[in-house]
This record gives sequence, structure tokens and C-alpha cells, in this order.
Amino acid sequence: MSKEKTRFVCQKCGADFPKWQGRCGGCGEWNCLIEEAVEKPASRGRSGGYAGVAAGQVQTLDKIELFEETVIPSGISEFDRVLGGGLVRGSVVLIGGDPGIGKSTLLLQTVHQIAANQISCLYVSGEESPRQIGLRAERLGLARESISLFSETQIEKILATAMKFAPQVLVVDSIQTLYSEELSAAPGAVSQLRECTAKLVRFAKSTGTTVFLIGHVTKEGAIAGPRVLEHMVDTVLYFESEAGSRYRMLRAVKNRFGPVNELGMFAMLETGLKAVNNPSAIFLSRPDGEQAGSAIFPVWEGSRALLVEVQALVDDNSGNYARRVTQGFDGGRLAMLLAVLNRHGGIPMHDLDVYVNVVGGLKITETASDLAVVAAAVSSLRNVAIEHGTVIFGEIGLAGELRPAANGEARIKTAEQHGFSKIVLPKANAPRSKSKNIEIFTAQSVQEALSFLF
Ligand code: TYD
Ligand code: MG
Repeated sequence: MSKEKTRFVCQKCGADFPKWQGRCGGCGEWNCLIEEAVEKPASRGRSGGYAGVAAGQVQTLDKIELFEETVIPSGISEFDRVLGGGLVRGSVVLIGGDPGIGKSTLLLQTVHQIAANQISCLYVSGEESPRQIGLRAERLGLARESISLFSETQIEKILATAMKFAPQVLVVDSIQTLYSEELSAAPGAVSQLRECTAKLVRFAKSTGTTVFLIGHVTKEGAIAGPRVLEHMVDTVLYFESEAGSRYRMLRAVKNRFGPVNELGMFAMLETGLKAVNNPSAIFLSRPDGEQAGSAIFPVWEGSRALLVEVQALVDDNSGNYARRVTQGFDGGRLAMLLAVLNRHGGIPMHDLDVYVNVVGGLKITETASDLAVVAAAVSSLRNVAIEHGTVIFGEIGLAGELRPAANGEARIKTAEQHGFSKIVLPKANAPRSKSKNIEIFTAQSVQEALSFLF
């Protein structure tokens, strides 16, 4: 048996080597060796096989006691929405995002909120000095006496301290600063990230502590260490924002305890992050202006509809080829929609530049936005504004037909709640009961919908 504490394992073929090398001797792949701690092999019986190992217990599922996961509300409404109700005991949540987006701020505020309900929390920071964190808490107006801080980067010390302090919620800021003394790699190396995360996951599961891990996202958009941590944790949240905007979006991309793709909205103010209770207000740039080239679309985000403004600008083309430039919308889809518009709506734009922008930095991937994009483009082309108070949704097929969108009734309801008076949608989405506050126009084709609008 080897005495080494670590070995270098090829991530492609699994071959392992005692020393690092640039190329795997097994499969010939470059740069794929990662240092891993050697686990002590389980002791086997002298006779070989598994004679010395006690057999485990196998159960049928009906014998397993079912109990509700205990969920602790964080006290921050939009955070709870993304988490699926609140903090689950024994779960590990990874929060990723660009540096400076507000991850530390959010968790410091969360710890403060939770501690106010007599739940013990420990904030471990390897990133900033205790003084910096103290100053931030002061600036945020938090009761500093209720926040317990531990400044450390060695995982063994953190876990020993956490065992002794026994918090119900443990925050680690950030996973990239931690290291295990068992590995020789520098903090932030994939092997360190994996080892430290594995230890924290084991700690969470064995003690029932809720663990939050903060992770910085690299330029490529993956949590540094090619998404290696995502499968190890229960929940992965991404914190994002448009450059220069004070609004922040928190999105669940994986959640073992709640819905995914749920979107939480925050505003970064002088006094820290504040949950935005009416996110639609952010995405409607000018709720009471009438402008050519603008259409309102109820986008489905997680479990609710948000009203967003889709803008289009159709302009004379000055170069050799017509430009299709999009922000927050798929460029290929726009080209397809313009082709359908030409063929089935008799509105050619092939020699014009078309720009599409989704206000507020949201990315729309739903095909239900097709009709709103087309309506905005036609509105800009003709320089005629869509009537004030109109909401539009529906998918457009290649034959120019309007196809239904999921959650139609909820979209209509959201538009109504925000005081919109008209909605144009596919016939198949027609609600069963009429509403008295919002006029509903159903259409079967893109031409029919456009004839309502213009
Ligand atoms: P921070 O939480 O440190 O970001 P992260 O941990 O994701 O790197 O947030 C830092 C940014 O937030 C910084 O640019 C200043 C800004 N900020 C405010 O605007 N208001 C505040 O109350 C605080 C604490 C920070
Ligand atoms: Mg930070």
C-alpha cells in the first residue's frame, strides 16, 4: 500500500500518478491531472472479499419515516423565494457571482436577520479582515453584537471551530480562499475547492447545519474550478446584474429542495441589498409613455410572470448587409421571425437594420416572446406606437400561426394587476372566463394579431 497522502488523477480516464505531469500517461490528454487526497482503503477480511465487513441494512421505501424538511425563513422575501421557502437544515447552498456584486452583503444581512430570530449563525471569512466586515455591518446598520465572525482559511480549523460553536447556519466566504492541509495545492485550485467543499458537505449532513458557500465566478461564467462544485451541493444560486445597474438578480440553477429558475430581485442601495417586491416596475422603462418600437411582454420567470419591455429599432441600412443586433434575445430567432413576417405578414425588412433590446438586462429565452418582438419591430418600422396599456405574448410558428404559451392565465392576471387594459394573445390561450378590467384580443396568426395592434 502506498504511503502518499495525495495522488494526481486524470479527469478523463481516471489513471493516477504519484507526481503531477502535463500530460496523462494513460490517455495522452493534456492538463487533466488533478491532485486528490488518498482515502484510506476500507479494511477487508483476511480471506479477501468482504468477509470482514458487516453487511448493511436494505429497506423498502415505505419503511422510511417521512418528515417535512424544516425550513427556516431567511426573513428576506426574495431570497426565500429563490431558496424555495427558506433555509433547509443540513443543506449546502452555493452562491456564485462576479466579484463586487453583493454576495458578502447579502449573506451578512441574512445572518443578521436569522440571528434576530435566536438562530445561531457563524460567518467565516477568509476574504476580508474582521475590521472590514465590521465596517460593512456598521454601514448596513446591523446590530453587530448579534453577528459571530471567525476569520480563517484552513478548513480543518474552520470545521473544528464550527463543531465547537455548533451554529445552525454556517456561512463560508469564499470557498476559493479555503485550503486543506492535506493537499499541497494552493487555495483556489480545483483539488482544494473539491476537498474543502466535500468536507463542508459532510459537516452539513452529519450535523444538520445549513451551509452557505460563496464562490466567485470566472470570466467564462463558471464558478471557478469548471463547475466542479455544482454537483456536490444541494442548491446553486447565481447572483447577476447588468453592468452599471443597481438591480441584482438571484437565480436558482439547481435546487434539491425547491423550484429552479426562480428569480429573486434586489436593489443595491446605500444601506445594502433590498428585496424588490414589484420587479415588473424595473423592467418597464416608461410605464406611461407611448413610444414607437416598444412592446410589453409578460415573461415567465420561475413561478411568476414579470412584465418586461421589449424594444426594437428598425433603421435604414448603411452598409452592405442588414444588421440584426440583439440584447437579451436570441439573434437567430430574430432572423427567423423577420423571415416569417416577410413571408406571411407581407412586411419585408431584409434591407433594413433591426436592433432588439430587452430593458433591464433580462435575457428572454421564451418563445412566447415572439409576438412582442415582432410587434415592437413593426411599430418601429411604421413609427406608430402600440396603444398604451397593451401587453402581448405568443409564439410564432414558421407558417405564421400563433402558438399558445404555458401559464397564459397567470400572465393575463399579472398584466391586469399592473393596470394594463389590453392583452393580445394566441387563440389557444383564450381564458375561460372574461375579465372586467382587461380587454382580451385573441388571434390565430401573426397577421391577425398585427391588424389588432396597428
Ligand atoms: P460585496 O458584498 O462585497 O460583493 P461580493 O462579496 O459579491 O464581492 O459588495 C460590494 C459592492 O457593493 C461594492 O461595490 C459596494 C457595494 N455596496 C453598496 O452599494 N451598498 C452597501 O450597503 C454595501 C455594503 C456595498
Ligand atoms: Mg465578498
